[in-house]
Amino acid sequence: MTAKNNRANFGSKLGVILASAGSAVGLGNIWRFPYETGEHGGAAFILIYIACVLFFGIPIMVAEFSIGRRSRSNTARAYQILAPGTPWKWVGRMGVLAGFLILGYYSVVAGWTLDYIVQAATNSFAGQSADGFIHAFNGFVQHPWLPAFWMLVFMLMTHFIVVKGVEKGIERSSKIMMPMLFIILLVLAGCAISLPGSGSGLKFLLMPDFSKLNADALLSAMGQTFFSLSVGMGCLCTYASYFRKDVNLPKTALNVGLIDTSVAVLSGLIIFPAAFAVGIQPDAGPSLLFITLPNVFQQAFGSLPWLAVLLSVMFYVLLALAALTSTISLHEVVTAYLHEEFNMTRRKAAILVTVGCSILGVLSSLSLGLGKELTIFGMTLFDFFDYLTAKIMLPLGGFFIAIFTGWFLDKRIVREEVSNNGSLKMWIYRSWLFLLKFVAPIGIAFIFINELGLLK
Ligand code: PHE
Repeated sequence: MTAKNNRANFGSKLGVILASAGSAVGLGNIWRFPYETGEHGGAAFILIYIACVLFFGIPIMVAEFSIGRRSRSNTARAYQILAPGTPWKWVGRMGVLAGFLILGYYSVVAGWTLDYIVQAATNSFAGQSADGFIHAFNGFVQHPWLPAFWMLVFMLMTHFIVVKGVEKGIERSSKIMMPMLFIILLVLAGCAISLPGSGSGLKFLLMPDFSKLNADALLSAMGQTFFSLSVGMGCLCTYASYFRKDVNLPKTALNVGLIDTSVAVLSGLIIFPAAFAVGIQPDAGPSLLFITLPNVFQQAFGSLPWLAVLLSVMFYVLLALAALTSTISLHEVVTAYLHEEFNMTRRKAAILVTVGCSILGVLSSLSLGLGKELTIFGMTLFDFFDYLTAKIMLPLGGFFIAIFTGWFLDKRIVREEVSNNGSLKMWIYRSWLFLLKFVAPIGIAFIFINELGLLK
């Protein structure tokens, strides 16, 4: 804790990495990554995704870390401190809004995971066919109140952890959950790959077919990068405001990127072999995870029912926990903003966020069932929030963060933060700065313009 600033801190370096990775690893990796990959042709999409992580995601994450740790405040105030009286504060404000909107539909999917814990624990997957799982899932998400109920439960869990504060709530929970999640994913990948007929799934995942790549796939890969790494909206900037001075920012970003990408690829290694083995189309969209996995448990462990129950409960519990470390970070961005900018107690700020996001959550949940006819630009409210945040707001936020840090911010400040007062090798610093100043902004702009069809 610094003398002039009584803000909370993360207690250890491992805590810093795990909390940031906890924000990054979530439904984005295990639910969203596989269905985006499935909709955009498999391996080729993954290659583009990895390029986006290396060239946009990690460099911009380092920039966000620097802004947050230097200013030691919420993401909107950060720009006011580093660039007083300039419009840069709108980048921070857009991030807060993005966090609010993401939480409003992310919590719906997080709620689904709770229902699936109950289903797994009561052995309801037993004896069902692949079609049965599809049917059950569609019936569930269109139910008039059940998914909304689970969304509210999830929102309350998030609320209580955020109110408890940074170190106790966020850091401690991440330390146990992240390694456990990784282990169970490995076990499940092994099971999925050993299913008969899984080979074409592996092929889909590993053999690139570039003919499927179009402007839309590029935009989706870029959006998935920002979404999955929690970059572009000030989430990691807010976390970095709780980092100590001795945290190595580039190394932390590299670690988070590595962990996040491995979890995503590992999820692909579970979903696609399993989907092909039971004949589910890889482009099934947001339902993909929820209709393929019960099949894995069913087919791989059908003869050992107790093991099927045990592993499936463990999986959905860990999935819910991974989602929880992400919803906490989303909630924290908005709560820290209200708390510090409007002089509210943390508690009151948190209540406002919880109530606001719950209303959005109920609406997004209903938009998949009762309110299906109500669309915006041809999308349900749920899909619209997803599109607007992941494919527009986060990449745009990332673009401006790159420009701000690369071109606008005092070079001395940037150097001090990124190189930990000179201990980082010069060539690493220079390459990072090059990516941030040129590669990331030009690349992001190219993908946006390409999507608009202006390049044809
Ligand atoms: N990165 C999280 C995930 O993959 C989602 C998220 C996005 C969290 C943006 C915070 C900010 O699930």
